[in-house]
Amino acid sequence: MPLPAVVPAPASMAAGGAPFRLSDATTLSGDADAAAGLAAAVRARTGHDIATADEPGGVELRITPGGPPESYRIDVDEASVIVTGADAVGLFYGVQTLAQLIARDGDGWVVPAVAILDAPRFPYRGVMLDVARHFHGVDTVKSLIDHAASLKLNALHLHLTDDQGWRLQLHSRPELTAVASGTSVGGDPGGFYTKDDYRAIVEHAASRHMIVVPEIDMPGHTHAVGLAYPQLAEDPVLGDDTLAAVREHGGEPPVAGVPFDGMAVGFSSLKIDDEATYDFVADVFGELTAMTPGPYLHFGGDESLSTSPEDFDVFVARVSAIIADLGKTPIAWHEAGAVKGIADTTVGQYWGYVVPQGDSDATAKAFADNAGGLILSPADAVYLDMKYPSGPDLGLVWANGPTSVERAYSWEPADVIPGVDDTGILGVEAPLWTETVRTAADVDTMAFPRIAAAAEAGWSPATGTSSLRTWASFRERVGALGPLWTAMGIGFHRSEEIPWAVE
Ligand code: ACM
Repeated sequence: MPLPAVVPAPASMAAGGAPFRLSDATTLSGDADAAAGLAAAVRARTGHDIATADEPGGVELRITPGGPPESYRIDVDEASVIVTGADAVGLFYGVQTLAQLIARDGDGWVVPAVAILDAPRFPYRGVMLDVARHFHGVDTVKSLIDHAASLKLNALHLHLTDDQGWRLQLHSRPELTAVASGTSVGGDPGGFYTKDDYRAIVEHAASRHMIVVPEIDMPGHTHAVGLAYPQLAEDPVLGDDTLAAVREHGGEPPVAGVPFDGMAVGFSSLKIDDEATYDFVADVFGELTAMTPGPYLHFGGDESLSTSPEDFDVFVARVSAIIADLGKTPIAWHEAGAVKGIADTTVGQYWGYVVPQGDSDATAKAFADNAGGLILSPADAVYLDMKYPSGPDLGLVWANGPTSVERAYSWEPADVIPGVDDTGILGVEAPLWTETVRTAADVDTMAFPRIAAAAEAGWSPATGTSSLRTWASFRERVGALGPLWTAMGIGFHRSEEIPWAVE
């Protein structure tokens, strides 16, 4: 009997025997939060309302401490479906798997007889949304949380600031949103999250067992800071790359004090020698610490092309120390790994290619050699904003693009940075940059199905250690999720690489 389709692939699964039949008589008992989540998923998928019952029998959802964090097991036979989480997160993930198992059978619905034992390979499994290049409202973010959590992702990284805009209200620095949030790339409208909006996102994420990782990118990517606080920012540096990007993508070159709505990078820098900059950094990350229950604050550090290497070193050392002193774990893009004085708890985020170019692997490896570890976001595999080979006219191609679903899938985390194996890898994250991504529908199209490949890299056993961890298996399993994703309202890209199931 073929194994039922589960994405990301579970650690172990066996199948066989008569299935469990879902009906209006099916009862649900056990943990109330998990039961509410499962009842909603069953209703969306099948139209059935399953009644909750005090007595075990039918579908049972329970927490039995003992296994690894986030782990769960599912045992299904003709008489019962039992989902057991080692903790509340594990039970939540068991419910996500169960929702994928529900299948049509004639006029009815069944859960195939399976025994699944499952636990994540890596503790950090993220998706990033850039809300600076185009602003995306709270409802779009909540949908992304729901959809990503169904694939067992547990971190939402919000890229909250960039040259084009500052998207988070801070009482300590009110000019940032008052002055620097009004526009997006291409002259599109901007926007920002109020403190209540941000709280709502954090709470919604927590309800799906996700943390929010806020990123305030610096010392580059800071043109918007200069609109609000001109005394903190250097004038734009118009290098050849910046001017070439303006020629390629249109718009005007950056001008100090004028909102920038183009796509060039690397022209802005905070003032490194001015103490006022560090007062600003302390205010921003201090306020963010109070608003953010998760352990991480991301300070960017990428593409600081108009900051001298010496200044970059001074800045990264000071800012990482400020964040560490606030009791948070700093995260920085991999360029900061070259800095000797960086706080040694800093986590690196690698955005080079699957086959590293230049010194990107050496700088990334420094984080794994430190206490922090590495998040892998190889741009030519998991950057969700790369164009599809055929598909909507959305996305960019600079990262070896277009990026097929097969390429998004066909890489192994332990093979990217020489000398960095699972012990140095904190996890995997799929970033969605939004220069061309304007709407909630655009987010869905670019993210799905490729985000599922990143989820499998972060959760599932290593390539070569499970018969499920192949492209041939993945494309079948993802294809089987089409009806569930449709029921969940995900507007995924119907890539011709995937055999999408129809019901
Ligand atoms: C990046 O893509 N600049 C992190």
